[in-house]
Amino acid sequence: MTSHILSLINDSFCDADGVAVYNPANDQLIARVKSHDSDMVSAIIDKADAVRADWQMKTAQQRANILRRWHELILLNSDELARIMSMESGKPFREAKGEVAYGASYVEWFAEEGKRAYGEVIPGFSPNSRTLTIRQPVGTCAAITPWNFPMAMITRKVAPALAAGCAIVVKPPEATPLTALILEALAHQAGIPADLFRVTPTKTSSKIGALFCSHPLIRKLSFTGSTHVGKILMAQAAQQVTRLSLELGGNAPFIVFEDADLDAAVEGVILSKYRNAGQTCVCANRLLVQDGVHDAFVEKLVARVGQLQMGDGLSEGVDLGPLIDAREAARVAGLVEEAAAAGCAVRTGGTGAQGAFYPATVLTGVTRDMSIVQDEIFGPVAPVIRFKDEAEAISIANDTIYGLAAYLYSRDLGRVWRVMEKLEYGMVAINEGILSTETAPFGGVKQSGMGREGSRHGLSDYMNIKYALMGGLGA
Ligand code: SIN
Repeated sequence: MTSHILSLINDSFCDADGVAVYNPANDQLIARVKSHDSDMVSAIIDKADAVRADWQMKTAQQRANILRRWHELILLNSDELARIMSMESGKPFREAKGEVAYGASYVEWFAEEGKRAYGEVIPGFSPNSRTLTIRQPVGTCAAITPWNFPMAMITRKVAPALAAGCAIVVKPPEATPLTALILEALAHQAGIPADLFRVTPTKTSSKIGALFCSHPLIRKLSFTGSTHVGKILMAQAAQQVTRLSLELGGNAPFIVFEDADLDAAVEGVILSKYRNAGQTCVCANRLLVQDGVHDAFVEKLVARVGQLQMGDGLSEGVDLGPLIDAREAARVAGLVEEAAAAGCAVRTGGTGAQGAFYPATVLTGVTRDMSIVQDEIFGPVAPVIRFKDEAEAISIANDTIYGLAAYLYSRDLGRVWRVMEKLEYGMVAINEGILSTETAPFGGVKQSGMGREGSRHGLSDYMNIKYALMGGLGA
């Protein structure tokens, strides 16, 4: 594979024994990159912590200037970054370009937000004292990021950490280390000190996760991934009471009420369900459609889903790339087979896995207890559940251990407010199929995790509040 941008990470390539990166569209080996063991990562953490004080002493404006240069370099290289991201993750080039812009937006946002890390002056509790708070960086941080957004999940952790004055070490996923390494190289080119932000691909992910939780210099760990792994990290983090941000699994309901604009709702499903071949934590996992419009909605949806072109993410006009690997495609096929055996109708798709590809699928006749709607599908399958009224929709929607994102389509303002408030989710999109943006707080409740990324809250997650009592001032 040749590319100008890959020459930036020449030092990371190796011949054997490294992390092997495959293109899921054709299972071809793209590259091997050096794997970091626990000793190497431990030394990297020590160095990161050693340079942190200098970075923290810079003004927020100085840090912002460097972060903005990083933002510019990412955008300048967006075509090449997107091409590599598409090759290692399978996502269509158009979506990969969208992710580059989305990922870069966090860098710009936090460059600015770092300047607004305000403290407070609180009225004193005695005549001769005053109460103050200041906000300070938490220290050296670690991040573990997923393969479904090889870039944006890194920038939305690294940018607030750096803007706050922290150092950060990132373990990228085994499947997509190239985008991460290029991002690191561009950051260093922009002037971010090399030891302050490091990316450490590894073949021993669970050992590095355990190291992040046990290393005495790591003060915070941010993880995006499964609820299962999140629970393991949470238990390990208890050793040192390491601060955690966890963005975990989801089981998003997508509720279509009788008064909804059905065409808009169908387009919302296309965005929410089929983006990244259904491999996002905020993907619609269950479509809840009210009785009176169920059949009309399904007909429109099936027709629209039938237009989606599946293929190699780098081919022209492709809407749906492969899943991350053949094992994932086989798992999704198994869920659909189980649902069909339980009586669901396969309205389109469902023809089985071919390598890492799985076709866009719609299932009807689904009931709330089936595993296809209790598990996180993480694939391009839309199961449709019929409901009678608002109360039933809310009850089905909340009947899950997860609470990340929910979607609802309705033109009745009263209903929109009632339902939005009753949904036990960290994020609710109303008449929209995508809610991700750097300006809003992204995160979940229940077993979908804790902490918020993006917005001003995303910066606070990398800062401690220090309270200072100023006494002896005289009455
Ligand atoms: C995720 O799937 O974890 C993130 C999705 C997003 O940022 O839109």
